[in-house]
Amino acid sequence: MKLQHRHFVIGITGGIAAYKTCELIRRLQDEGATVQVVMTESGTRFVSQLTFQALSGRPVYCSAWETPAQSGPANAMPHIDLTRECDAILVAPASADFIARIANGQANDLLTTLCLAREVPLFIAPAMNRQMWQNLATQRNIEQLRHDNIRLLGPDTGSQACGEIGDGRMLEPQSLLAELIAQFGPHSEHPLAANTPNIRGVLQGKQLLITAGPTFEPIDPVRGITNRSSGKMGFAIAQAAADAGAAVTLISGPVHLTTPTGIHRVDVTTAQEMHEAVKAALLDLPRDCFIGVAAVADWRPSTVGDTKIKKDSGATLTEIDWIENPDILASVAQQPNPPYCVGFAAESGSLNELEKLLPEKRARKSVPLLVGNIGETTFGEDTNQIMLCDENGTELLPTDSKSNLARILIFRIAQRLCNH
Ligand SMILES: Cc1cc2nc3c(=O)[nH]c(=O)nc-3n(C[C@H](O)[C@H](O)[C@H](O)COP(=O)(O)O)c2cc1C
Repeated sequence: MKLQHRHFVIGITGGIAAYKTCELIRRLQDEGATVQVVMTESGTRFVSQLTFQALSGRPVYCSAWETPAQSGPANAMPHIDLTRECDAILVAPASADFIARIANGQANDLLTTLCLAREVPLFIAPAMNRQMWQNLATQRNIEQLRHDNIRLLGPDTGSQACGEIGDGRMLEPQSLLAELIAQFGPHSEHPLAANTPNIRGVLQGKQLLITAGPTFEPIDPVRGITNRSSGKMGFAIAQAAADAGAAVTLISGPVHLTTPTGIHRVDVTTAQEMHEAVKAALLDLPRDCFIGVAAVADWRPSTVGDTKIKKDSGATLTEIDWIENPDILASVAQQPNPPYCVGFAAESGSLNELEKLLPEKRARKSVPLLVGNIGETTFGEDTNQIMLCDENGTELLPTDSKSNLARILIFRIAQRLCNH
């Protein structure tokens, strides 16, 4: 029970994804948390108040004017009282309309009033069709939320209720739960996690180049070799860097992730394409910092067949001739006047082994800061555990959400860039 004694206000607005919030509430309760549901009037059109009342075991609030009969005098001012005892407000799903109202400081229903009158962190999980998400007005509002230090969770990309595929899908309940556990679970008593640094403006005016995701090395027109990197850590770092005021170019291998707002994204497939894109980006502009988070394939087939290798052609995969791919991180670090270089290493083995391995690898790659992922289980997950390795040695950070770790890392990088 990782959220014992935690209490959350869960806001539900008018989006199809409201049905997923039923599952989220169950999972929060399984972890020992209590929840108070507050709905917009539109939210009640998708899932009834009664459903959430039965799931949460508490009256559900919709209006500041009509308080539920069960509420006593203590709730005579629900627009303020409801957040008095809570650890955070999470609005999931957050409609485009709700986001617009929050971005403008409106308080024209109970949920927006609660958000405006809060003293606790506000988390927002957007959920909408891809055109609504991509609309410039929505993106402008999202930018404002970031500026106001409101934590955005998602959105995800994938199939949508309208039948289209794209950005704007609400994060799945397990991902939202993981984020709340990372923020409010037992390990969040660790000083680092409890005090996620305020990174606003710490990279103002800096140019960052970041790689993320896997690469895909074709064997023939239909086959290839890749790895399990999801791109989540790299995208979280790009997001945190943008939140910190940096201008960010993100070079990404094939991933299913939404581009963080305000970031210039370049999509590539192979390691060679990634290398070319990195070289072009460095020629284009001097960069203050390069963060190589991508899991670049070490080898590729020396030749790629024009046609699909037939199963009965007698050829076997053991006949493929492999050649080594360029080491993108080392090549950036070795150029004259390199940017401040940060590398990522995914290593198998124990913590002790990693403690020895990282300093060797850092020296070999000639980078000032190397980040080790602990184990391979982090691929595709929302949480991670990392070890930092710099000139002073290694430092293990506690397991945390990738977005929190990204903020801590960006804070550390900003401190170093000041002395670079
Ligand atoms: C069937 C239907 C589905 C909708 N789905 C969404 C959605 O997923 N996301 C969204 O932002 N708006 C969606 N809308 C529009 C919102 O419900 C509408 O903007 C409403 O005013 C939101 O009010 P609220 O922000 O007070 O909850 C949908 C509307 C309808 C009729």
